[in-house]
Amino acid sequence: MTNCIDHRDLKRITHDVITLSKNIGQWMLEQTHVHETNAEIKSDNNLVTFVDKESERRFVDGLSILLPEAGFVAEEGTGQRAEHGLNWVIDPLDGTTNFVHGVPVWCTSIGLCEGNEPILGVIYTPCGMQECFYAWKGGGAFCNEKKIHTSSILNLEQSLLATGFPYDDFGREEQYLKLFKHLLHGTRGLRRLGSAALDMAWTACGRLEAFYEYGLNPWDVAAGTIIVREAGGQVTEFNGNDNPIFGEDMICSNGFVHQQMLDVVKKYF
Ligand code: IPD
Ligand code: CA
Ligand code: CA
Repeated sequence: MTNCIDHRDLKRITHDVITLSKNIGQWMLEQTHVHETNAEIKSDNNLVTFVDKESERRFVDGLSILLPEAGFVAEEGTGQRAEHGLNWVIDPLDGTTNFVHGVPVWCTSIGLCEGNEPILGVIYTPCGMQECFYAWKGGGAFCNEKKIHTSSILNLEQSLLATGFPYDDFGREEQYLKLFKHLLHGTRGLRRLGSAALDMAWTACGRLEAFYEYGLNPWDVAAGTIIVREAGGQVTEFNGNDNPIFGEDMICSNGFVHQQMLDVVKKYF
């Protein structure tokens, strides 16, 4: 239960967000003519297309009808943030670089936060496996209607991890590369999918034991945070604090390897 919405409402709203994500995702999938030459450069190495902007507009329109009292924190700047209470946190297209290069690893990511706490999340990938990951507070986590759980692997040595490389924030590059090298030697491997939301969804369903990245934004992690938590995992900042949505860095894991990740990260950050 949350202050504003009860469990039944959250479940119903989650299913409405799934329908909206599937409709908008289908439209996105049809925009196959968009490629590198149609993309604008937002900042160094950071691309945006009309598909990002138009899908965000469609999400804001649809979500405004679903929950008129909620504000918006959306990557491309659509809508107004509400100072208190509920905000939709929207990444209309997570993995834009993959999208414009034709790599079928991208998704939509919609979270609903009450204050700083995510209470509902839907991550939908229209391409490839067409998976829809979703969760609401107290309701468990699912992928295409099946309950999902984080993995039961206990040690980093047996873990498969994912990370992301910042586009233009190279201030912590040295520490990051040292940490990368450490984990390269001490785990089953490191993946770089190119979509933080999918990295989190894949941790939630047990394909990965952990994912970490610095320099992420609230829209990259809001939906993923509630999905990982409801799947039995843990999400914190690098220092272990519990403000991953609005913090500067993030580790999510199956819970069992979380302290081991924090201990390793502490050596370098
Ligand atoms: C990016 C992706 C990428 C991560 C970047 C994000 P975008 O989001 O999630 O995996 O490494 O930090 O900004 O720009 O494709 O929405
Ligand atoms: Ca993103
Ligand atoms: Ca995006």
